[in-house]
Amino acid sequence: MINYYVEKEYESLSKRTAQLLIDEINKKPAGLFCFAGGDTPVKTLELLAAAEQAGKVDLSQASFIQLDEWVNIDPNNHGSCRNYLQRTLFDSIRTSEENIHFFNPNSIDLAEECWLANAFIEKKGGLSLALLGIGVNGHLGFNEPGTPFDVNTHVVTLSESTKKVGEKYFEKTSFFERGITLGLAQILAAEMLIVIASGSTKTNAVQTVLKGSPREDCPASGMWLREESTLIIDRSLAETL
Ligand code: GLP
Repeated sequence: MINYYVEKEYESLSKRTAQLLIDEINKKPAGLFCFAGGDTPVKTLELLAAAEQAGKVDLSQASFIQLDEWVNIDPNNHGSCRNYLQRTLFDSIRTSEENIHFFNPNSIDLAEECWLANAFIEKKGGLSLALLGIGVNGHLGFNEPGTPFDVNTHVVTLSESTKKVGEKYFEKTSFFERGITLGLAQILAAEMLIVIASGSTKTNAVQTVLKGSPREDCPASGMWLREESTLIIDRSLAETL
């Protein structure tokens, strides 16, 4: 089952999502949380950081794992997923470095990077909550269309769509051919899964999800493999469906 919400606008979508995060983190303060990069969760993560500063949620015991990253990127590059999470959330909250697992996208041994992420998740007993955006092509993290639903962390050859859309994150023209991402098996096994989408570029992806069954050509439709997932979109997107 998918709990499906259409919010009036991006602001209220972010507010509802942040409240779901706060409630869940308050229930599992020592859990493992995974938040996507990208434009869609920005406001949600800012609201989460503000809630922490206001004492409404305690993030000091929580662990975090990065969802995905561009392979070979400098972590200080403004377009890196790590830099995004740092700016949007981690720089504003009380947490310590050992509670956060980041990818090293410049490792000479990317298989080891996958192994390290898998081991971190396993050690923590799986993800407590995953908050994801959805790619224009339906991807989750960097799990591109065609990815089996049962894979763990892996290195991906990025699709043309992902590379093209990804240009929006960079200040200078950047070319990344590969990504590293938590796998659909790990994402779909999260105790709570929230997918958010806003704006008309996501029409096709959300329409495919709403067809009601999991299909490999749309990783986000894997939500249907779960007993319960949450999909929150805004009205500007809903009107295009
Ligand atoms: C990007 C990222 C995803 C993100 C998605 C949507 O390529 N790899 O983690 O959730 O695509 O991004 P946005 O919210 O900017 O539309």
